Amino acid sequence: WIAVLDFGGQYNQLIARRIRELQVYSELLPPDVNLDELRRRGPRGIIFSGGPNSVYAPGAPAVDPQIYEWGIPVLGICYGMQLMAAHFSAPVDRAAAGEYGKALLERVPSPASVSAGVSGHAANTPGSQPDLLDGLPERQTVWMSHGDVVTAPPEGFVVEGRTDRCPVAAMHHREKPLYAVQFHPEVQHTEFGQDMLRRFVYDICGCTGGWTMSSYAREAVEEIRRQVGNGQVLCALSGGVDSAVAAVLVHRAVGDRLTCVFVDHGLLRKGEADRVMEAFGRGFGMKIVRVDAGGRFLARLVGVRDPEQKRKIIGEEFIRVFEEEADRLGKFDFLAQGTLYTDIIESGTKTAATIKSHHNVGGLPERMSFRLIEPLNTLFKDEVRALGTELGIPEDIVWRQPFPGPGLAIRILGEVTQERLSILREADAVVREEIRKAGLHREIWQYFAVLPDVRSVGVMGDERTYAHTIAIRAVTSRDGMTADFARIPYEVLERLSGRIVAEVPQVNRVVYDITSKPPATIEWE
Ligand code: XMP
Repeated sequence: WIAVLDFGGQYNQLIARRIRELQVYSELLPPDVNLDELRRRGPRGIIFSGGPNSVYAPGAPAVDPQIYEWGIPVLGICYGMQLMAAHFSAPVDRAAAGEYGKALLERVPSPASVSAGVSGHAANTPGSQPDLLDGLPERQTVWMSHGDVVTAPPEGFVVEGRTDRCPVAAMHHREKPLYAVQFHPEVQHTEFGQDMLRRFVYDICGCTGGWTMSSYAREAVEEIRRQVGNGQVLCALSGGVDSAVAAVLVHRAVGDRLTCVFVDHGLLRKGEADRVMEAFGRGFGMKIVRVDAGGRFLARLVGVRDPEQKRKIIGEEFIRVFEEEADRLGKFDFLAQGTLYTDIIESGTKTAATIKSHHNVGGLPERMSFRLIEPLNTLFKDEVRALGTELGIPEDIVWRQPFPGPGLAIRILGEVTQERLSILREADAVVREEIRKAGLHREIWQYFAVLPDVRSVGVMGDERTYAHTIAIRAVTSRDGMTADFARIPYEVLERLSGRIVAEVPQVNRVVYDITSKPPATIEWE
């Protein structure tokens, strides 16, 4: 596996993902990771990521210099390159002008590579470190994003590539397996970036690949068995892909010693609760206790209009119901959760202002003293989907669009009532069906109906109407942090509006939300 030391750059998660795409496990670690500990875990190579600092700035993150003597291959990227250069006393200057965006990289093949013809571990032979860019074109596009620049190679290093503004854009040590590039091989705009990472990971570090979701599943099942022993496991199913995959994995490991609790808070979309029971109860034969708590949630939401208050009430009530149910069901030693790798990486660094207090239905009740099983906590979302498919989870669940923990309550502006819930549910079902029929469901990140607190005048069958408005929200996004409204074809919008007004009697007007995030958010509350 490959350790990526995280210096805080915006593309760092991408580095780990790209390496995993090469079927080699990779993980982000803080730069001050204890070297002995890291040695015990035995990575085949280390990558220093990019980062926002200047290596000479006070407090700039650094690494234990012993890492350079360890003998395993290191690849420094951007800040990582400057760090390596500074360690070997090369000049690192604030560039006259930084380089941001595409640049043309020109190779400068080193004498060693011309004759070496290296493969596998031969890379570690002293005096003949192979080129990272071996076999790649003389000129290629790379993606740059840096202010500082290494102006001359450190002693003992050879230059492998340069750009107009960057005399040392790629370099390596003559005798040690130390490599560095100023550009970002992990981003798609670097034409041969993945080839470079493959070269580093396979040829220079000697990794062999084979880390796939089926091998992951096998190992995870064994690990869960070992961890649980004869214990009993509890899991909160939410209907979302993360908790579903976690539950199926645990079920595969311990069978009936897993009990799933599915709290139906009555705020799910049309047909969703039944679908969960069918897929996991009947389909996988899992022990699932369904709690129909819709009445309780609605009772607590009477008269509540403020979005934050709704979120708070639903989050609290969820934990209460879950706790009561767990108590009733007996004694459990473990709680299985679908925590993702991104949840872990991001929770450590979030300093942003609270825009909305997010609530995950899988969230851990604080007072309960379980040991945690988090079999997905090293995986990214797309890997969880691949794992779900591997485990035989139906496609509609594996590809379910993100759905907020508080459910439809935050898509109904103003008070949540049974009547308003059913209006929204029917309209939303039409949106989902039509988007799917139009084949847009994979490219649109989220698509749903919103019930604003608006009534307007209309005319239907020569009669005046005074009825609800439905807003359609559909966005494209990579991660939900920023989003753009989806360019749905007019014909699809036309079908949506026609069907909603025809099929949901209390609605006489449909509007389309054309704001991006920011300034709006994806959800309306
Ligand atoms: P916003 O509305 O903040 O949403 O742009 C960003 C993404 O997060 C989802 N979302 C939530 N997910 N619990 C969740 O698990 C929540 O409380 C919650 N609120 C918003 C939203 O659907 C979008 O994908």
